[in-house]
Parts: sequence; C-alpha cells; structure tokens
Amino acid sequence: MCGIVGAVAGRDVVAILLEGLKRLEYRGYDSAGVAIQNAEGVLDRMRVTGKVRDLESCLTGRPFVGHLGIAHTRWATHGRPADCNAHPHTSHDTVAVVHNGIIENHEALRIRLEDLGYDFTSDTDTEVIAHLVHHHRLQQPSLWHAVRIAVSELVGAYAIGVVSTTDPGRLVAARLGSPLVVGIGVDEQFIASDVTALLSVTRHFVFLEDGDVAELTQTGVTIHDAAGQIVGRPIKKSEVSADAINLGDFVHYMQKEIHEQSTAIADTLEGRLSGHRILEEAFGPLARGVFDETRCIQIVACGTSYHAGLVARYWFEAIAGIPCTVEVASEFRYRRPVVSPGTLVVCISQSGETADTLAALQETKRLGYAHSLAICNVPESSIVREAELTLMTRAGPEIGVASTKAFTCQLVALLLLVIAIGRRHGLGLVREAEIVAELAALPVLIEKVLRLEGAIRVLAKQLLDKHHALFLGRGTQYPVAMEGALKLKEISYIHAEAYPAGELKHGPLALIDAQMPVVALAPDNELLEKLRSNLQEVRARGGQFFLFADTAANFQDAPDMRVVRMPSVGSTTAPVVYTVPLQLLAYHTAAIKGTNVDQPRNLAKSVTVE
Ligand code: M6R
Repeated sequence: MCGIVGAVAGRDVVAILLEGLKRLEYRGYDSAGVAIQNAEGVLDRMRVTGKVRDLESCLTGRPFVGHLGIAHTRWATHGRPADCNAHPHTSHDTVAVVHNGIIENHEALRIRLEDLGYDFTSDTDTEVIAHLVHHHRLQQPSLWHAVRIAVSELVGAYAIGVVSTTDPGRLVAARLGSPLVVGIGVDEQFIASDVTALLSVTRHFVFLEDGDVAELTQTGVTIHDAAGQIVGRPIKKSEVSADAINLGDFVHYMQKEIHEQSTAIADTLEGRLSGHRILEEAFGPLARGVFDETRCIQIVACGTSYHAGLVARYWFEAIAGIPCTVEVASEFRYRRPVVSPGTLVVCISQSGETADTLAALQETKRLGYAHSLAICNVPESSIVREAELTLMTRAGPEIGVASTKAFTCQLVALLLLVIAIGRRHGLGLVREAEIVAELAALPVLIEKVLRLEGAIRVLAKQLLDKHHALFLGRGTQYPVAMEGALKLKEISYIHAEAYPAGELKHGPLALIDAQMPVVALAPDNELLEKLRSNLQEVRARGGQFFLFADTAANFQDAPDMRVVRMPSVGSTTAPVVYTVPLQLLAYHTAAIKGTNVDQPRNLAKSVTVE
C-alpha cells in the first residue's frame, strides 16, 4: 500500500519523480526514496524515514541528476518505518526496485537467495525482488527477460518498477493485483500507481493488466501480457484536471473536499435523473436484465464505504422492499456465506483498489452469486474492471485520507440503485418522484449546512481536551453516527464510538459523565420522539450534548446541551445531509489540535494490501 513512480526521459527526471511522489502520499507516507541512473551510468539512491518533503530536503544542494529513475513513498507492511526499509531496494548497486504490494513467499525466496550468496540489508519483502532480478539478469539477455522470470516466481501482489545499470535507458514495470499505469509523453515515458501522480507531465495513460510486463524507453513502451505475447493496450486520455488536485484557498484537502460536496453530488446526479424519475440507463445496457433477476442484495465494503452500505440497507428494505445484508469485506471474503438465488452483490469503494473489497468481489464470483455491481469513484480501478455493472460516483479525486465527499456521493448513487430495484418490487411513481425531488434538493441543502461551519468550529474547541466521545443516532442516522465517530477517531485521535440511541441503556449508559461528550443526530422524523426520550436518559446522568437537530424539533440550548439547528430535510436523504456537520466537527477538532489532518498517523488512503 505504497506509491510508486518512475520515468525515462531526455531531461532530468528527479523533479518529476518528487512531484509524482507528493501526489501519491495519500497511499503511504512513513518513508520515501528515489534512485536514478546518473550520467556516468551509476545508480544513485537517497532514502529517508519521513515524508517526501524530507526526501526533497536531503536532495537539496546535492548533485542528483538522471534521465532514468524510480521513486517510492511507503506505508510499512514488512519492516518498521526506517531508512533501511525504505525503497528503492537494490542488489549489488546494479539493480534497483520499487514495489507496491505484498510478496507472500518472500521468506522462502530469501532463504534461497541467501544460499546463493545474497546479503539482505532490510526487513522488507521487497528486497527479494531486487536480488531475484539481479540473479536472473546474470543469465538473461536483458532486464526485461530477468524481470519476467523473477515475477513468475513471486506469490502475492505487486506493482514494480525496476532499473539496472546493465540496461541503461530502460525501465521495466510489472503488475499483478496492485495498480500501475504507464504515462505516455512525447519522447518520455512514465509509470505510477495512479494517474494523478503524472498529470503534470501527461494526460495519456495505458492501464496495465494483471500479468503484464512492460519495457519503457525514452521513445516508447512495449507491453507483454501474462502469456508473454506483445499486446497493444488502449491509450486513454484522463479527464482528471490538474486543478482538481490543487488545494486552492483551503488549509487541508479534507476541508476542500467537504466543501466540494454539493458540486460532487450534483455531478453524480447529472444525466441520471429525468423529470421525476431516475434513468436506468445510467447503470449500463446489461442493467435491466440484472435488476429483473435481483431478489436480494449483498453489500460488501470497508470503512466509510461500509457505512454507506449500512445506510443503504435501510433503504433497500424500506423503499425497495427486498432483503439486504451488509458486511465488511475482510470478514465476508473468509466466511462461507449461503448464496441465495438472485443475489446482486454490490461492492462500494472510493478507490476501487481496496484489497479486501476486490477479493470479496472475486470470491462472490467463485461462489456463484448471480450478479455484481460496483459503486466506485475511480473509473479504471480494479473493482470497476472486475464488476459486471458499475455506477460511478463523480466526486472527483479525493486526496484526504478521511473520506468525505466520496461517502455522500456513494449514498446518492446507492439511492439511485434502490429506486431502480424498487421499481420491480412495488415502488410506485409517486414515491419515486418524492425521492427524486429530495435528491435534486441535496446540493442546495448541503450548501446551507456548510454555512454552519463557524458554529461547528466553536463546538470543536470543546472537544479538544476530551479522550472519548459517543455518537448517537437512530434508523439511518445510526450508520451516520458510526461514520461521524470514524471521522473523529481517524484524524483527531479521540476515541469515539457510535450507538443506536435505543441501545444505550443496555450498557453504554454506564460510561456517561461530564467527560464523555455525546454527539447526537435528531432529524425531524418518525423516530424523533423516541430519540428525545433516549437523550433525556443521558441528560439525567450528567452527559454533555452536542446536538445536530432539525430546527422544527425545537431543541433549546442549555448548559449541558449545545444545539446546532439543521435545515429541514426529507426523511430519505437526511443521512446525506446530517453527515456533513459531523465531517466538519471532526475536521475542526483535528485542525485545532494540529494533527496531520490529510495524512493521519498509521493510515493510508488506499488499502491495497490485506
Ligand atoms: O477506497 P475505499 O472506499 O474502498 O476505502 C475503504 C476504506 O479504507 C476507507 O473508507 C477508510 O475507512 C477511510 N479512511 C475512512 O475515512
């Protein structure tokens, strides 16, 4: 779960590599490194524990120039964050390798290579690749041949970039199970873990497929598939603009992305609504047949995307009238579920590269589930390519590790799916029109909630010295509370848990005291009076409330209760709207605390390892 970038060009590539790494830091940021082949044909390498800016500082004022190079930003899997474990890894100062993924048979390979006389200097699984390539290059006519044989001996997942002083001007790349794109420039070629890393140098990309091994020179790219045949993969023009990944006037990407939500939702709805109806064509030409056969839904996802699935479960059962189960992908993939006929598997993923979600999707195919659909934010991602149907969220690139705009767009996409399926199970035109009207109103409502940011920032100050928090909701607001708790945990490091408010008296009420802030969500819906009673139970025991409540619910500020008045919102789409203040609360708490909001400790944006 790291970021890799590589370049071969007629110009110095160091700045290109560093810029690419900065764009990839969302994938990992505990150490970074770069290796180039210099004008004398010698490998020059620099590695540091820390961020790309630390690597950049180390290179300042040092002669470090080359037309061929590879670079890496790391999220530690094998071996703690340390200079010696940072990539690139080298063998005999000849071969250098960057790797994203996990080599499962690295221990066996290490023993074999040690027997052959290779010395290991790191605790990583990656170092075996460097030595293995070096070993094979001694017998093979080219680096490409050596890499091809080396990868055939690897078990696990990899996206790699390899250079060798024996093959000047050549960069060899290979992938299996981890993402890798080739960027096509004018007399210069690149590789990277995703397109955003290379947008400053090209808009034209080839997406390597599993088993591909590519050789890049300044003038072109040759790709061999898993069978060793030369293949022509299509060159695609990226629609992502370089502007989309600039911070603009915001302090953090997370804040920028929270503020982009009304546009992102409008974009996700564009072309998918017509009058009072949703357009089923949005799901692709095969959708009609698939939906006709669908009798139940199995959702699999991780983290924030899992929370979107939990909200959708309420919708599928209450609106579409069909059974829906939701499970975290890391559990689902190793369980032996009973497969009900006519089950549509719905995978939800911002990145489309989450290893557990991808593996769960693959497992459902093996188990014989009827059909699959991916809700995803990255069009060329592995999950999109694996699923039978797709519905893209159009949130734009999400850089902050804490997912925000992707979540609300996922909810919107899921609601479109609920309607499409619900039509086959008794959802009438009037109800569909009501939900469509609610969807269309969302961008304006979210703008209104964003205007509450100042008041929410004031509340955030009161959370600063707290070590724990409880989040409460009922119905669809329960998963929203879970999402709010996750946001607070991951960026402010304050422990937070969510409960359905009716469950408090079964245990968690024992935790309530003045040091335990309780964040509660109170839209004006059929559960409001029940929630009101639950809140009284907490107040009677000295709890301190932060309440996000519909203005019409008429809650009043009190010494033990701070009320943020929310606009009136339709009962179906309320989870989308009530997510936003919780994002702002977590964001401002973390920002005032001074944590690294966009790159919280120990995490990475895209979890491409198990
Ligand atoms: O890219 P995905 O949606 O598949 O990612 C799933 C989770 O890793 C992700 O939502 C994670 O929980 C976020 N950091 C939460 O903010």
